[in-house]
Amino acid sequence: MFSLSLRRVSTADGRGRLACDSSQAPACREDRGEPSASGRNCGAAARVSAGGCETAPQRRLSRGGEEAARALSRATLLRLPCPLWAAARTAMSLLSATLLPPLLRVYAAGVWALLAQLFSRRFALPAFPSQHGKVAVITGGAKGMGYCTSRHLSRLGMHVIIAGNNEREGQEAVRTIREETLNEKVEFIHCDLASMKSIRNFVLQFKAKNLPLHVLINNAGVMLVPKRMTEDGFEEHFGLNYLGHFLLTNLFVEMLKESGRQDCSARVVTVSSATHYVGELRLDELQNSSCYYSSHGAYAQSKLALVLFTYQLQHHLTATRCPVTANAVDPGVVNTELYKNLNWAGKVIKWMTAWFFFKTPEEGAATAIFAAASPELEGVGGCYLYNGERTRSADISYDEDLQRKLWAVSCKMTGVHGAASSRLEN
Ligand SMILES: NC(=O)c1ccc[n+]([C@@H]2O[C@H](COP(=O)([O-])OP(=O)(O)OC[C@H]3O[C@@H](n4cnc5c(N)ncnc54)[C@H](OP(=O)(O)O)[C@@H]3O)[C@@H](O)[C@H]2O)c1
Repeated sequence: MFSLSLRRVSTADGRGRLACDSSQAPACREDRGEPSASGRNCGAAARVSAGGCETAPQRRLSRGGEEAARALSRATLLRLPCPLWAAARTAMSLLSATLLPPLLRVYAAGVWALLAQLFSRRFALPAFPSQHGKVAVITGGAKGMGYCTSRHLSRLGMHVIIAGNNEREGQEAVRTIREETLNEKVEFIHCDLASMKSIRNFVLQFKAKNLPLHVLINNAGVMLVPKRMTEDGFEEHFGLNYLGHFLLTNLFVEMLKESGRQDCSARVVTVSSATHYVGELRLDELQNSSCYYSSHGAYAQSKLALVLFTYQLQHHLTATRCPVTANAVDPGVVNTELYKNLNWAGKVIKWMTAWFFFKTPEEGAATAIFAAASPELEGVGGCYLYNGERTRSADISYDEDLQRKLWAVSCKMTGVHGAASSRLEN
């Protein structure tokens, strides 16, 4: 039991949002007594939010008693959804039902995401309490949004470990962040997410440091790479963006469980993308091995897989009552090197428009930082976050059967047979 009061707090954009104060950490916490409900309940709260039904928490309150308090606690983060973003989301979902080729779908989704971004408010990060004593691992933390995330968390006092595949860039990032933040606890450890061996080595090196692990940010990624395979023979988008992070998270999950506390959960933050709305995931075609290969389709698929993975991970964490949460974030359309594989026409268009339409890497990193450090998200898992708000992800991402099957296939592909997996494989 816990006491709870609802209040409206003002936000940077002046629209205000609902917040609740409780004597225990909010959201998902209650689900820990109900193993099967975990992520689904958080997903339900997200669905309410995404559906634009701001009155849901009040409606739930009227049911009275503990259930209403629980529902309200899940609504901690409910804000008025941006109507344009809701429209864009719907349009992107409709696109996924069309027969358009993946390339057109991804570009159409990109245009919708850009429009929504252009006309919606920019998310300004609030100030967070000091994070001294916490340890974070950030994949791809040497450049782009990963670098901004590493720098911000370091500034908050976290011990930051950058996991990256480029030693020179990584050490340069460490030096700059140390200088800028005056936090000496920034390190680089080599980790090539396209290699299962390298990921396992990275985890061993990290464990040798005898540090706890409070935050894991699955940020690294590639986009639109030509058809090629990872060291282990997986299509690169799927193998690196998704399977690499699947393996890394599973290898770290016990450490995260040990490091989290009931009032201070460890957190897994996974960077997805609006392209997941138009992604297709066929379990018999995960490797995109058909003769027609679409790098656009492969990227969207990997980002959809990350959302399914996040929800299934949260199910497991809640069922085992671990003080760990898992959320997926959508950074928006951001001006980074991720677009380096565009064709020349795409590069010219991006060069001419990005300065106006795209977010800066700092802006793009804001939601991941929010998910990693915000007290508002204490105990909250199984959400898809955009601009610091819960939002509804693609319908297919809530398919629990697909989540379970993808998890089982991923275990086989990566050779994971940990506690997290054994329960889920059954
Ligand atoms: N930019 C956008 O508009 C956008 C939109 C939605 C989602 N996202 C997602 O946001 C995340 C960050 O991307 P970004 O935009 O910041 O792009 P970025 O600047 O290209 O950063 C990607 C990071 O991933 C690293 N990486 C690539 N391959 C790797 C490997 N094999 N092993 C380890 N690290 C590897 C890169 O390092 P190297 O370059 O040294 O290989 C780089 O540090 C990605 O997951 C991306 O899909 C981006």
